[in-house]
Amino acid sequence: MSIAKPLPHDGATLHVTGAARYTDDIPTPPGTLHIAFGTSPVAAGNITTMNLDAVKNAPGVVHVLTATDLPNDCDVSPSAHDEPLLATGTVHYAGQPLFLVIATSHLAARFAARQARVEIAETSPVLTIEDAFAADARFEDSPRIYQKGDASKGLQSARQTLTGSLFMGGQEHFYLEGQAALALPQEGGDMTVHSSTQHPTEIQHKVAHAIGRPMHAVRVETRRMGGGFGGKESQGNALAVACAVAAQLTGKPCKIRYDRDDDMIITGKRHDFRIDYKVGFEPDGRITALEVTHYTRCGWAQDLSLPVADRAMLHADNAYNLDNIRITSHRLRTNMQSATAFRGFGGPQGMVGIEKIMDHVAQTLKLDPLEVRRRNYYADRMPEDTAPATPEPRPVRNAKGDSASRGAEAARPDQIPTPPEDVQTTPYHQPVTDCIINALTDRLSQMADYAARRAAIAKWNAAQPILKRGIALTPVKFGISFTLTHLNQAGALVHVYQDGSIHLNHGGTEMGQGLFQKVAQVAAARFGVPVEAIKITATDTAKVPNTSATAASSGSDLNGMAVKNACDEIRKRMEELLAEFYQTRDITFADGMVRIGSQEITFAQAATSAYENRVSLSATGFYKTPDIEWDRIAGKGRPFFYFAYGAACTEVVLDTLTGENRILRTDILHDAGTSLNPAIDIGQIEGGFVQGAGWLTTEELVWDDKGVLRTHAPSTYKIPACSDRPDVFNVALWDQPNPAQTIYRSKAVGEPPFMLGISAFSALSDAVAACGPGYGDLQAPATAEAVLAAIGRTRA
Ligand code: MTE
Ligand code: MOS
Repeated sequence: MSIAKPLPHDGATLHVTGAARYTDDIPTPPGTLHIAFGTSPVAAGNITTMNLDAVKNAPGVVHVLTATDLPNDCDVSPSAHDEPLLATGTVHYAGQPLFLVIATSHLAARFAARQARVEIAETSPVLTIEDAFAADARFEDSPRIYQKGDASKGLQSARQTLTGSLFMGGQEHFYLEGQAALALPQEGGDMTVHSSTQHPTEIQHKVAHAIGRPMHAVRVETRRMGGGFGGKESQGNALAVACAVAAQLTGKPCKIRYDRDDDMIITGKRHDFRIDYKVGFEPDGRITALEVTHYTRCGWAQDLSLPVADRAMLHADNAYNLDNIRITSHRLRTNMQSATAFRGFGGPQGMVGIEKIMDHVAQTLKLDPLEVRRRNYYADRMPEDTAPATPEPRPVRNAKGDSASRGAEAARPDQIPTPPEDVQTTPYHQPVTDCIINALTDRLSQMADYAARRAAIAKWNAAQPILKRGIALTPVKFGISFTLTHLNQAGALVHVYQDGSIHLNHGGTEMGQGLFQKVAQVAAARFGVPVEAIKITATDTAKVPNTSATAASSGSDLNGMAVKNACDEIRKRMEELLAEFYQTRDITFADGMVRIGSQEITFAQAATSAYENRVSLSATGFYKTPDIEWDRIAGKGRPFFYFAYGAACTEVVLDTLTGENRILRTDILHDAGTSLNPAIDIGQIEGGFVQGAGWLTTEELVWDDKGVLRTHAPSTYKIPACSDRPDVFNVALWDQPNPAQTIYRSKAVGEPPFMLGISAFSALSDAVAACGPGYGDLQAPATAEAVLAAIGRTRA
């Protein structure tokens, strides 16, 4: 069976040989025109004159468009309709597109875009969290508040309290493939768009509006992205809309690809946060009350900021059972790129907050931070019924209605067990019924030899004046589902051809995470054929409509189930035909064969005979996540179908003279349920960890005091290189199935491991604590400078 096998990524060979076709690699028809944006050099102001004569006269220029030249409402926002494609009088950030150039080549368009003479009456930009808060520049009228118990009372009666504040920076996505789009005009005004997007349906929707046609006139195709990481959930809209509008105007194919600097200057990044806290606790480290305030820097437009800030609040508890808690969230508007989705979608920021608090409490009490963490964990809850809900393809019932013994019955619909008496709930009142964090932490601390190494490090630090080491083991509990409940749906389209080969399509997009391979393995398993029999095809709005973004880590959960449902429909039709012909209902699909009683034919023969007997071999599939409901205003409900768990133990060393630091070793134990593909999942865990550690260590975004992004290229923005990964890097998968009824009892794995990177930050904080008697109060990212400053504070 093709499930749970460590098969290589379907694109692996294509990726490493350069044969994989990305949007920019699609051969363009002769006469294709190229687009570039002219952008604002200042962060805030009003455009007084825009002299584009030199742009129009530059070589190769065909057209130049400003906001007033656009045919329809060309809004590119995914949410609040507050993002005109081109600035309309007012400028909101340095890098905002002001006009677009259509030219005969990519370079001609880029050259021309720089010839503009634009005059902007500058106003003073709102840049910092403090400025935005003072100016009451925000996206919701009032702060959002989620609470459980009584935090104020709890703080009054607490034995000990601490207050603190943490700033954490944002993060550039740095997908290797930059944003790109290609629009091909069709007959009758229709438009086909190739887009490097996680959300083809949204591109379709936005393009349809922009060209003034119904959605059926627009077809969007995405074969793959060279990384998205959330940065292609909404940020591709502007490129696709620009191409489509230009293609409609000129009747020619139009293409755009951002150069790396443009990509970094124009598009949104991870939200940076300030988190203030006041925590009450017992002398043993148990937290009795907590007030946290999130200040989220959203940039100029709303984009996905509200759900991002919500998800940060929903992860303010991480793996900890906090009785009296109040979480307040301010969503602040600033004159910067509009911050957007990025792996974890706010979850990482919320979690860093509580992990910082754990370290602060532990360092104050001089306790092992892991001990403090454990004392605050949710209790483990192992649901009894974890039998596979997605059984192997099983024999159809025989005439008497008996099912063959090897077929497991489908699990009961109410799979989530009723919470026991001592029900534990999150700050948003969802019962935590699948917790495994204690057992997982036990096993990881053994695997990593945590206690012995912690003792050895203390000894080593006592003897070393210059270098200091630190170690931390931090947990992850991440909620799986889109918090906007209606997004938790997916569709699929499967065809079986008469030769037994299978064409697979679903609404998910491939961005390197291995979704297509995992879902192909599901299809292969349902038909009992090798995965080579499955043709993976591009995501296409004309094949599967009304899809959600491939996001929230739910790609394989949602699309895997939709594909399973489509395959099972076709298999059922084939079974019915065979049952009638062979007069038995004992039919199994396995190893490329179909066994019918004592007879055996190939899957291809079964397909041929179905075709010849006029049985339809094509089906759609649909799936929606059960058992979720959420009131985001009240902060109550069950936003998540289940939680994914994991933990990482990281050891670092730092140089107290320079603040330089590196990761020596990381051990990870991560819960992917029954992994659909352990090789791909381990790849996701390794990559997620490194990306998370990069965010909290070397990756620093710097805007100058005029709001201009100074870190706009790899020369100034440092993502982890191969040499930055841990020298020793052990990753293991937790071996229990998902108690929730997911596809083959797997768990989503795309985002949760990102937050394992917090262990690197916490280990650095531990090493800093070894530098002096005081509290270092390490801020993020823990660049060499930040580490040095923290060391200074421990000694002050
Ligand atoms: N892995 C790779 N290689 N490239 C990516 O762009 N995106 C991440 C994660 N892993 C990403 C990745 C993000 S932000 C999400 S939400 C999930 O993959 C999306 O895919 P999935 O739902 O299929 O896991
Ligand atoms: Mo991922 S941030 O949900 O695209």
